[in-house]
Amino acid sequence: MLRVFLKMSDAGNIALIGFMGSGKSSIGRLLAKKLHYRFVDTDQLVVKSAGMAITEIFKEHGEPFFREQERLALESLHGWQRLVIATGGGIVLRAENVPLLREMAFVVWLTASEEILFERVSRNTKRPLLHTENPRATISALLAARHPLYENAAHFVIDTSTKPHAEIADEILSQAERFFSCEK
Ligand code: S3P
Repeated sequence: MLRVFLKMSDAGNIALIGFMGSGKSSIGRLLAKKLHYRFVDTDQLVVKSAGMAITEIFKEHGEPFFREQERLALESLHGWQRLVIATGGGIVLRAENVPLLREMAFVVWLTASEEILFERVSRNTKRPLLHTENPRATISALLAARHPLYENAAHFVIDTSTKPHAEIADEILSQAERFFSCEK
């Protein structure tokens, strides 16, 4: 792992995209720790600048306002290096975020089966888009709509359904190393 750290140390950022519950924050934190990079989460940046929780932002100002704050949060990271960026599951909905992400970072799409995503997101109620009568059907519909957007944005895709986080992080690191060495 030291080998990866040394080679990656002058390299770019890693951004994690994917559906709610795909593991972006936990795997992102682990990656940042392994690389000695800074971990940032666009949701946290939005919460901080708005001074309220995501559910409140959706309730008070609506989704378009949230999406604009999310875009600004991502834009504010432009020019920074040595970041692991966890994004909100809907970051790819704004078309202009995609080239920005790909320019700023090695973009990794974390996937998981629908059952597992449902099980993971059911553990908390902090996701306003899932406050529906049938969250399972909502997940299905959102996944179907977003699948091509994630696919189009990603440099690399990895399934998080069953593998331990440490194994996923190591795989991402070796792919990132390859990506950045090809870029030079
Ligand atoms: C959203 C995902 C959430 C958060 C907001 C909207 C989405 O982030 O940005 O609730 O549209 O998928 P996580 O993917 O971190 O849960």
